Amino acid sequence: MRITAPAPSDRVDPAGIDLYDPRLYAYGDAHLAWQTLRREEPVFWQDLPDGRGFWSVTKYDDVRRVLSDHEAFTSQRGAILKMLGTEDPAGGHQMAVTDPPRHTHVRRPLEAMMTPAALRPFVPRIRAGIQGLLAGMCDGEPWDLGVAMTALPMIVSGALMGLPEEDFPELVRLGLMTVAPDDEEFQVGTGSTTTLRAAHTGLFSYFAEQVRARRRAAPPDLGDRDLIGRLMTMEVEGSPMTDGEIVSNCYSMLLGANVNTGHVISAAVLELFDDFEQYDRWSRDEAGLKTGLTEALRWSSPVLHFLRYAVDDVEIGGRKIQARQGVVAWIASANRDEDVFDDPFRFDTRRRPNREISFGYGPHRCIGTAAARITLDLTLKEIFARVERFEPAGEVEHLCSNFTGGIKHLPVLAHPRIQR
Ligand code: HEM
Repeated sequence: MRITAPAPSDRVDPAGIDLYDPRLYAYGDAHLAWQTLRREEPVFWQDLPDGRGFWSVTKYDDVRRVLSDHEAFTSQRGAILKMLGTEDPAGGHQMAVTDPPRHTHVRRPLEAMMTPAALRPFVPRIRAGIQGLLAGMCDGEPWDLGVAMTALPMIVSGALMGLPEEDFPELVRLGLMTVAPDDEEFQVGTGSTTTLRAAHTGLFSYFAEQVRARRRAAPPDLGDRDLIGRLMTMEVEGSPMTDGEIVSNCYSMLLGANVNTGHVISAAVLELFDDFEQYDRWSRDEAGLKTGLTEALRWSSPVLHFLRYAVDDVEIGGRKIQARQGVVAWIASANRDEDVFDDPFRFDTRRRPNREISFGYGPHRCIGTAAARITLDLTLKEIFARVERFEPAGEVEHLCSNFTGGIKHLPVLAHPRIQR
């Protein structure tokens, strides 16, 4: 997504705001739209030309309420705006679209494999993967950081799920087709619908084969070696998961990881092109690395939204939401709320306090938080050790998606740090 810094007095006419249009995030000014809405219509109704319509909440407190109050706002009918009004067939079967209490039973055994301590054995493999990705960075030629960072999360999800490395490029491609089916660079066939269908089919059949292969192996390849093994052996409310549920959760885990993590780095590097002093300070201050990373998460907010549906009639900020209407919680807007963040359009690697909610809020708060933070921390350390300064080296291109705020191309010239 294009990250802009509108002046506090800037506004657009709310009647012309279209938060559904994926092109807004690639070419337009979503931050100006959200800034206007936070001030003038914090609970905003939008009609779509096809007869559908949805509410948007843009203030920090409202976003947290919608994401966390699962009794009033269910995830079970679907959680992505693109699919508004289509009942998600995975509802109640896939963790991301299941409400508590079943959600808690699915999540707990997986969560135990995603703590910092449980992730420690994966760190050497993740670090080696990152070093491989960054290998060409300092060759003295323009180099596309956006492409490298798009491939970054696969190193992590691949390791955690026990997937073969030769499959990574295809899985990255299918992930991009899923979150950005409107982006022409990733489209196949006749447009976004065919692209989305092809991506779903590709990913579901891939994971179905992974599960079958593990059962076929002699002895069967099951157990807690990785997340797929855990999904195949764990019980939820006294029963094992069906193969359909296992595959659906593999799909969700892969997408949860793959479509967002690397954009945090790209967005920070892009912002600091013109602020060498801040880059220099951050890159040399090991103690301040984490504070800066938290700010990069707030700044990039790579997951723009999640969707919920009102269970019954409910009121938010004086507006009446009717039962079954969709409510989109714009996380990327909450992270710029001027009532919560001082000077929200300033990127400040020393910002404190910083109550960013890039990983969401409530029962569905990202299960991959520790994995993402470890990956980002390792990546920043590798970059800071090698690069003294980045220079722009070509046109920046943003992902055309209302779900993932990504940077797909970011050509840079990296000036290597002189080793002493
Ligand atoms: C910077 C990187 C990441 C960001 C910004 C992010 C963001 C989010 C957000 C906002 C949610 C909440 C969904 C909701 O409320 O409905 C979420 C859930 C989830 N994330 Fe992440 N995520 C990241 C990395 C990862 C990684 C590395 C993994 C896996 C290894 C992952 C797997 C998941 C899964 C499976 C869920 C669903 C959890 C549930 O329903 O309980 N994410 N993520």
